[in-house]
Amino acid sequence: IPVDPFDLVIFGGTGDLARRKILPGLYRRFCAGQVPEGSQIIGSARSDLDDAEYRLMVAEAIAEFGGVLSRESASLDAFLHRIHYVKSDAKGDGGWKELQATLRDGVVRAFYFSVGPSLFGDLAERLHTFGLTTPDSRVVVEKPFGHDLQSAKALNATLAEHFDEHQIYRIDHYLGKETVQNLMAVRFGNMLFEPLWNSQYVDHIQITVAETVGVGGRGGYYDKSGAMRDMVQNHLMQLLCLIAMEPPAKFDPDAVRDEKLKVIRALEPVDWHHIVRGQYGADDNGPGYRDDVEDPKSRTESFIAMKCHISNWRWAGTPFYMRTGKRLKARTSEIAVVFKDAPHSIFGVDAGRHRNVLAIRLQPNEGMTLDVTIKEPGPGGMRLLDVPLDMSFADALGPDAEEAPDAYERLIMDVIRGNQTLFMRGDEVEAAWAWTDPLIEGWQTRNDVPKEYEPGTAGPEDALMLMHRDGRKWREIK
Ligand code: BG6
Repeated sequence: IPVDPFDLVIFGGTGDLARRKILPGLYRRFCAGQVPEGSQIIGSARSDLDDAEYRLMVAEAIAEFGGVLSRESASLDAFLHRIHYVKSDAKGDGGWKELQATLRDGVVRAFYFSVGPSLFGDLAERLHTFGLTTPDSRVVVEKPFGHDLQSAKALNATLAEHFDEHQIYRIDHYLGKETVQNLMAVRFGNMLFEPLWNSQYVDHIQITVAETVGVGGRGGYYDKSGAMRDMVQNHLMQLLCLIAMEPPAKFDPDAVRDEKLKVIRALEPVDWHHIVRGQYGADDNGPGYRDDVEDPKSRTESFIAMKCHISNWRWAGTPFYMRTGKRLKARTSEIAVVFKDAPHSIFGVDAGRHRNVLAIRLQPNEGMTLDVTIKEPGPGGMRLLDVPLDMSFADALGPDAEEAPDAYERLIMDVIRGNQTLFMRGDEVEAAWAWTDPLIEGWQTRNDVPKEYEPGTAGPEDALMLMHRDGRKWREIK
């Protein structure tokens, strides 16, 4: 899909996110023909660099993090030609006039705040004071969007002083993942699933985002956040919303976000018996959590599992189990919709319990499986067996799947196109904090100590018990 020429200014243009994701992503989009002639990508930060030096940094970032494109349509040199650098100071006056002079009229104008939230206000204010914004220019902000409800409200208020809501793009990169969008296509593009998508037919839903990495070099940030703030408040809640929401009347930003907001507002407070927090211990492959964050007494969780309920007509009585953690057995993310047993087994008790499960895999090997019960082949009588109808996107779609833009690429292009559907609205973020804040306060006042778990496992034993108590089982992390 073509895009109009644009000027994209990346504040924090020499930072980690810019080098790992934003710049290599833009290069891939350039190769796909989506950084048209007349576009400029302008890195901006405090370092003293000229265009040539910045281009060198960009080329190195692409070499390191760029991935390979099978049908490269343009050379790196041509891409680098669109890259510029202007030094600026978020807290001072330096560089802003130069930046202003670089921007052109008549093209889409976007500012990516790839910096800590403490600088959002300064940047927004200077963009205005120095006349860089237009009524149509866009601003992109990264998570963490605040630390709790109060700070998120303050950030929203700061941005609102200078930008309208339709200009603000709050990134949650999970919404840019191919499978996450596919979830909406599966739900609302098929007749097959939606009639069964409710508490009458669904026994429970499991959302798992498991990682093998520890907190490594991010200990300073992570220890102030923990899995709840770092992953649940945003990524997992967004997945939950897409699984649970009512069909929007159309696929339009506010229609979709209105429905997601209703889900968040219908989430019940979680009983503390239904929350399990964990911290990874040490093993041969690395230090334990407390050594990683250099606080031997840290009570921050690197793992969380919880059972939630959505109080509305569709979902009353269906539990949603969510878990996420670091240093687990495998890097795997999936959403599993576990359907109820057939109401009566004509094959007798010996046939065992068989259930349809629709599993949507986000990573690795994006795709979907639907477990269907069939007869075990052979002469052994009517014995039942569950087999997966397995669809891997890579197999089903061939090279097109490989060239699908990654989450950041897609989201940046949506900013340029002016499509906010896959971005969080201010009220959504606030509602999510309003749900997580009391849970966090709850374990803080109880002085809850996270359970240590062995790295390379599925997390603390208590998380398994959370399901076992209900006569259910987590799906294997593999
Ligand atoms: C980030 C979190 O938002 O998402 C990280 O801050 C986490 O802690 C990452 O590792 C996971 O993203 P992905 O795309 O690798 O699943």
